[in-house]
Amino acid sequence: MKLTQEQIKAYDEEGYIVLPSLFSQQEARLMKSRLPALYQMSRDEVIKEKSGVVRTVFAAHTFDEVFARVASHPRLIEPARQLLNSEVYMHQFKINAKAAFNGDVWQWHQDFGTWHQDDGMPEARAMNIAIFLDDVNEFNGPLMFIPRSHKEGRLDASHDLTTTSYPLWTLDNAKVAELVEQGGIVAPKGVAGTVLIFQSTLVHASSPNLSPWDRNTLYVTTNSVENAIRKFQRPDYIAHRDFTPIHTLDDTCLDEFHQAVA
Ligand code: SIN
Ligand code: MN
Repeated sequence: MKLTQEQIKAYDEEGYIVLPSLFSQQEARLMKSRLPALYQMSRDEVIKEKSGVVRTVFAAHTFDEVFARVASHPRLIEPARQLLNSEVYMHQFKINAKAAFNGDVWQWHQDFGTWHQDDGMPEARAMNIAIFLDDVNEFNGPLMFIPRSHKEGRLDASHDLTTTSYPLWTLDNAKVAELVEQGGIVAPKGVAGTVLIFQSTLVHASSPNLSPWDRNTLYVTTNSVENAIRKFQRPDYIAHRDFTPIHTLDDTCLDEFHQAVA
């Protein structure tokens, strides 16, 4: 799958693109059907909120056969190669649950801040691709972007170890206010199967989910093979060490599982 010149321009200028229903309802349902089993697992990859519900499952592509295929899906990996202008490997693979009533905040941050500080990623040649596994609306904690904020490059950040159960390099309020003054805030919404691709220096956050609707999101983080990380302080299920270029599967690679959830 190839992005159009217009989409590439939007990614460069605005810092993100929205691909409504890139995955079908059936494909999104298939991915979602795997979550209850993952959320019951007791293993290091499953991170809980302070309230005890699941916040994030890391590296599910290493222990779930559907997510193993999603991690090599051409609708994700081909645009990543195109935008990064090289072969890519998987730096991180995670599912954020953002559970109804209990899903906690993600503070304002740039992903590259954490990847650079904690993982020694040299340059901002990685990106996040998000797949909505639920319909996302204004109430269930949609991801918020500050358009064009990626153009600032890597910003000063401090390591927040207390706000949530998960440490994050976060921006201070004065800087966020200044960036919002210039770019405003957008919160792309859409049906399950919608995909967002965003720059690793784009400033983003999300509010707690007070609604009765879960907001499960899958994040595939691809990095250029020319930009492999150099620091190995985080566990390898958070910052992967396998820098092998991803070999894409067929576009129909999820089809054989559909019967199971029909
Ligand atoms: C993230 O920024 O890594 C996650 C944000 C979210 O899932 O709302
Ligand atoms: Mn992020």
